[in-house]
Amino acid sequence: MPFLACRTFLDDSTINSRLTPLDTSDLSPGDVVIRSAWSGVNYKDALAVTGRGRILKTFPLNPGIDVAGVVESSADARHPVGSAVLVNGMGLGETQDGGFSERVRVPGDWIVPLPAGLTPREAMALGTAGFTAALCLHRMEENGQAPARGPIVVTGASGGVGSIAVAILAARGYEVIAVSGREAHHAYLSEIGAASVVTPDALALGARPLERVRFGGAIDNVGGDVLAGLTRHVELWGNIACVGMAASPDLVTSVFPMILRGVSLLGISSANCPMPLRTAIWNRLGGDLKPRHLARIAATEVTLHDVMAACSRVLDRQHVGRVLVRLG
Ligand SMILES: NC(=O)c1ccc[n+]([C@@H]2O[C@H](COP(=O)([O-])OP(=O)(O)OC[C@H]3O[C@@H](n4cnc5c(N)ncnc54)[C@H](OP(=O)(O)O)[C@@H]3O)[C@@H](O)[C@H]2O)c1
Repeated sequence: MPFLACRTFLDDSTINSRLTPLDTSDLSPGDVVIRSAWSGVNYKDALAVTGRGRILKTFPLNPGIDVAGVVESSADARHPVGSAVLVNGMGLGETQDGGFSERVRVPGDWIVPLPAGLTPREAMALGTAGFTAALCLHRMEENGQAPARGPIVVTGASGGVGSIAVAILAARGYEVIAVSGREAHHAYLSEIGAASVVTPDALALGARPLERVRFGGAIDNVGGDVLAGLTRHVELWGNIACVGMAASPDLVTSVFPMILRGVSLLGISSANCPMPLRTAIWNRLGGDLKPRHLARIAATEVTLHDVMAACSRVLDRQHVGRVLVRLG
């Protein structure tokens, strides 16, 4: 039976996305077909759909690195027909037809059973953004981070990863300094848990190799000068989770924060997270890390018909929090 997908084509040398009727046999191969219920727009999806970044490794392909839904057919006994599941990363929406589609077919090894404590909609309100924020916290705490060690800076705070990081950290007892370039969203960031909200300029990061210690650690979504500046101000043995490059992929700093203060720069790669850790993080997101303010953070909902416009808004920095995609 035909279904609808947002499909991205390489026409001559131009990337174009359009709503396209497909059949299951058109989808990338896999053992399990999922009837999609929800997805969400991540920064990477916005780059893929608009063609402003080379995310898709093959064409044509359905973008969407996240999906939640119900198993419709299965050759994998771990995921019987009717079970509620999700997929995030692993290659979905990059090498394999992704979640901006009413059907998704994947290898059974990529599937996470829907965690207790989350509806499919809530799982995609979190999506890769929420998963990434929780993975940052997990890695930081594994490496000794604790609320008593000082405030945590979250940059790109009004975006998807940033908003969920603010909410999760605050609920765990951290003092959160949210950094957002858009003053219109400062009140929102206070509501979801930030103790203080500043613009990047007001953060006034220094440029010497080592500056006065001001922060216990950071979750950085923007890269570039802000990330470089943060390395110089982090406490002894503090952690900086390096997530994104919304401002710049460059990082120019010195080794001094690492070799004189023991600061750790933790690489975060949600797409490649091994399955046992992935499942454990998702279970925590349905349990002790479930953000109280999820409905506020994911207040925008679009359909497949609007997903292309929503992707442009994300890249043009005209959204706040998470954008949910309703499917089917
Ligand atoms: N490593 C991983 O596994 C992983 C996983 C998910 C996402 N990411 C990356 O993390 C970043 C955030 O992802 P997301 O899905 O949360 O995106 P998002 O919702 O679009 O949020 C990005 C935020 O960064 C800030 N920003 C945007 N453009 C900027 C610019 N030119 N200069 C400075 N700040 C800018 C904005 O926050 P303010 O307006 O509040 O400043 C924006 O809300 C992206 O780079 C994404 O690729 C990485």
